[in-house]
Amino acid sequence: MKKLFKGRVILFLALLLLLMLSACGNSNEEGSANTDDNNNAENNNNTMNEPENNNNEEEAAEEVEADSDDQLVIGFSQVGAESEWRTANTASIQDAITDAGHELQFSDGQQQQENQISAIRSFISQEVDAIVFSPVVETGFETVMQEAKDAGIPIFLADRAVDIEDDSLWVTFLGSDFVEEGRKAARWLVEEMADHDGEINIVELQGTVGSAPAIDRKAGFEEVLEDHPQFVITQSQTGDFTRTDGKEVMESFLRSDGDNIDVLYSHNDDMAIGAIQAIEEYGLKPAEDIIVIGVDAVKGAFEAMVAGKMNVTIECNPQFGPQLVELIEDHIGGEELPKRIAVEEDMYTMDQAADLIDSRQY
Ligand code: AHR
Repeated sequence: MKKLFKGRVILFLALLLLLMLSACGNSNEEGSANTDDNNNAENNNNTMNEPENNNNEEEAAEEVEADSDDQLVIGFSQVGAESEWRTANTASIQDAITDAGHELQFSDGQQQQENQISAIRSFISQEVDAIVFSPVVETGFETVMQEAKDAGIPIFLADRAVDIEDDSLWVTFLGSDFVEEGRKAARWLVEEMADHDGEINIVELQGTVGSAPAIDRKAGFEEVLEDHPQFVITQSQTGDFTRTDGKEVMESFLRSDGDNIDVLYSHNDDMAIGAIQAIEEYGLKPAEDIIVIGVDAVKGAFEAMVAGKMNVTIECNPQFGPQLVELIEDHIGGEELPKRIAVEEDMYTMDQAADLIDSRQY
């Protein structure tokens, strides 16, 4: 009996233990149910977030779409690569277009009008959103510009203008005031030679025949000298804005009248740098025997001034790419733009050159 009792007690305890274990198990189950609930809550939260995520994704997708809507295809017909100035100008415009996230179609006209006309026709057939155009010469682009207008493609004149009456053929012209550059050169010369007695003989290296800067820089220079008859332009010829031609033409000026040249007025620094070489080879000292005036204010001119071989350069700023891209975007966005926007510029003399040369960006 005792044994039986003992056995019953053991059985009872075993049952009790089982009950307790099962209760524990239930409570664990409850715990895990809670965890599941938590998980579910979390999941629910996630699910609640899901629409939010979806919204974010949708928003991001819309943004991408908007960005690609904002992305323009811009055709850029550049004059060529004739000078240091041009290289800096090409880089400024190309970088500004691509940095703004637009697609660039570039064409180097190699200083040939027919190349620029066919580039613009190709931009039209590609249905670009805008055309940036720096015309090598002022005339002869009317037909192709009309074709762009008929196709609904806006043209932005950069650096150089056209001589066309119908100004509805372009949106705006952003570039330097070339006439003023010519005036600045002449004013500097008049002041510099104020104490000089007698006639002053000037030789002039013109830019590309028929180009806006060649026409305007000549006109501005002559306009100021009209009131100072002692200044006489004795020889004037084109050097096509290049160093090689500048040197060659200066050689011929020197050959024909080498001992009577007081001043060289060059429509750009590249031609002036070529001419400096010709003057030295002829046996004269540039900037001393012959005053040398250039236009552009490129690094090469600063180097020549630091070396004492060039007297002055009139700035023509090529770095207007970012401003140009902003104007294109404004126009596409429906903003009205003025027909003419001038780039701000300065003038630098030999005695300033050493201090400024390191800060020059082109
Ligand atoms: O149109 C700007 C002129 O063209 C620059 O003065 C000259 O250097 C360039 O080639």
